[in-house]
Amino acid sequence: MHKSVSSSGDTNEVMTLKQFEMAHHFPTLSTDQKKELHEIALRIVAPGKGILAADESVGSMGKRLNQIGVENTEENRRQFRQVLFSADDRINSCIGGVIFFHETLYQTADDGTRFIKMIKDKGITVGIKVDKGVVPLPGTNGETTTQGLDGLSERCAQYKKEGANFAKWRCVLKISDSTPSQHAIEENAKVMARYSSICQQHGIVPIIEPEILPDGDHDLKCCQFVTEKVLTAVYKAMFEHHVYLEGTLLKPNMVTPGHSCSTKYTPEEVAMATVTALRRTVPPAVTGVTFLSGGQSEEEASLNLNAINNCPLVKPWALSFSFGRALQASALKTWRGHRENENAATEQFIKRAEINSLASQGRYTFCGDNSEQFIYISNYAY
Ligand code: 13P
Repeated sequence: MHKSVSSSGDTNEVMTLKQFEMAHHFPTLSTDQKKELHEIALRIVAPGKGILAADESVGSMGKRLNQIGVENTEENRRQFRQVLFSADDRINSCIGGVIFFHETLYQTADDGTRFIKMIKDKGITVGIKVDKGVVPLPGTNGETTTQGLDGLSERCAQYKKEGANFAKWRCVLKISDSTPSQHAIEENAKVMARYSSICQQHGIVPIIEPEILPDGDHDLKCCQFVTEKVLTAVYKAMFEHHVYLEGTLLKPNMVTPGHSCSTKYTPEEVAMATVTALRRTVPPAVTGVTFLSGGQSEEEASLNLNAINNCPLVKPWALSFSFGRALQASALKTWRGHRENENAATEQFIKRAEINSLASQGRYTFCGDNSEQFIYISNYAY
């Protein structure tokens, strides 16, 4: 028996040596390499744990800081990251991994401690965004692919030495009458498979993020259909590139209606569409699924994650979070660039981490007012 994940999110992993040795036609990873990758992936999505995505590029951080009237300087970016990373031990049981941006990996807290050390000292795994952003895919109706393969092997080797054990690569697909095209689906699937195989060579667990944007007026069924189509291509490419699935995590969008869709759906409907799409396309060998929040409000993302974990279908993977905005929005609003707000802002982050930890186990009961706004930005670039 490889692993079982109960509906409450308990992962009971018993992987025999024989399974690590299962041969591919052109084996690229040793038994020890596979074991290391699988164990890293399991640690990140241990029961009750998910990921803090704090890997906004300089440009994306600029948009965030602009919303609260703070200038986009290296020092201000450092201070906000410090708000998150100085959370106390309450987050140790909620956060299994933190994704860094290159700049942040080399930054320190006020007292000179490197951020990477602060995170590792909590027993949290360090990850790094390794893609270099989206670029136009010529010959399509405004679609994109993601760049960053050049020099990736060398960068992975360096990041592993710095202490990173997992990586993130984001691809973006759009829903419209003419998109996503088969060409964009296949190109993005291939680039994610190439990235994954390069990471694994260096002992780095790849997080595979094929994000389908929530822009548009499409309904839930349409998003489910497109999600199934995209994930089918992703796992075909992973197979062709001999990616070791047990040493990967998937970071998909939840299946939700487009932001301009007039029909509203309950968290249970979102959960059923999401789990159905995953069951049809994601091999059970994949260790975990860590959803992005994609511009949902903090509360909506948590309620949907909770419903996903309570969905009455068999779910062979850990189903958790890798949220950016839905873990940071309240902290950012509370901080507003003022030193005296730092502690209160950190408390906001801890609160969301605790709520999402419960949601990743299907144990969260909503008891506040849901008056928040969506954190939605059209055509969002990370
Ligand atoms: P959001 O949760 O804000 O969508 O971001 C997650 C992420 O890492 C996107 O690449």
